[in-house]
Amino acid sequence: MSRAAAPDRYAVVGHPVAHSQSPFIHGAFAAQTGERLEYGRIDAPPERFAQTLRDWIASADPTRGRGPVRGCNITLPLKFLVLPLAQRASERARLAQAANVLRFDAESDGGWFADNSDGVGLVRDLIDHAGVGIAGARVLLIGAGGAAAGVLGPLIEAGAAAVTVANRTAAKAAELIERHRALAQRHRCMLTAAPLHDPGAGYDVVVNATASSLAGAPVPVPATVLGAGAVAVDMMYGPAARPFLDWAAAHGAAPRDGLGMLVEQAAEAFALWRGVRPLTAPVLAALRAKLDSGR
Ligand code: ATR
Repeated sequence: MSRAAAPDRYAVVGHPVAHSQSPFIHGAFAAQTGERLEYGRIDAPPERFAQTLRDWIASADPTRGRGPVRGCNITLPLKFLVLPLAQRASERARLAQAANVLRFDAESDGGWFADNSDGVGLVRDLIDHAGVGIAGARVLLIGAGGAAAGVLGPLIEAGAAAVTVANRTAAKAAELIERHRALAQRHRCMLTAAPLHDPGAGYDVVVNATASSLAGAPVPVPATVLGAGAVAVDMMYGPAARPFLDWAAAHGAAPRDGLGMLVEQAAEAFALWRGVRPLTAPVLAALRAKLDSGR
């Protein structure tokens, strides 16, 4: 009897990367869908990123049980280094100027393909798991860094009536909006920039895409941004999201952390690699239980 071929290999690449939950999530997707694959973690400092990917791909050796490398997730601080390495990229990755997914297609099939699934992950989590309608909603996006850039396009595409980007550094919000102007016009979405101290009031959805919680700083907007029945999302999870979520709950909004977004962005990557879309609700529940138990 011949041995089964070595499974396709995937990984999350970051610096640091030990904290990443992606191996757990993709392991659960693989078990659920019956896809045979291995998924690991690779630590690569920015200056070694490209070479690390090439060495990893070259390490395939089926006779030693090392299957072909098919793709990877990319996490901080490497997301902004991906696009120059890829032969092709999705429109959403180009608009975000960052990618969190690579698929290593052969040169003859067009070469490496880069995508950004963060924003669609956020939108799917809100719609499918939190029951939040984005179509027609007024959305406040706080922040204009990489995290905000990843989600602005998909919020527009999901049919938000208006998105306001509020950021400490006004020029960055203006630049982010300018880049998304044509997309917003196509989707009839009103796109504006606002200062943090005067971000407008009464939003349906408020998304915190700043690093302010991590820095131990207070929530950078007044509570008047929260409309009646508003949902307030922090793109982080665990202790980093706590101050914003507690603030939102204390002012009557429904808090939502970034764990569902994490699972949904992974599902989008899995579908891009394997052509199979996994069920996300059971994996999100298992991940929440895992983190709650401190494992
Ligand atoms: P990321 O990739 O996580 O978005 P980033 O690109 O460094 O990281 O962006 C961090 C975001 O958090 C920015 O919008 C930043 O505001 P500036 O553009 O003015 O730097 C925002 N941010 C960080 N600390 C903040 C604070 N204490 N108050 C308000 N905004 C803060």
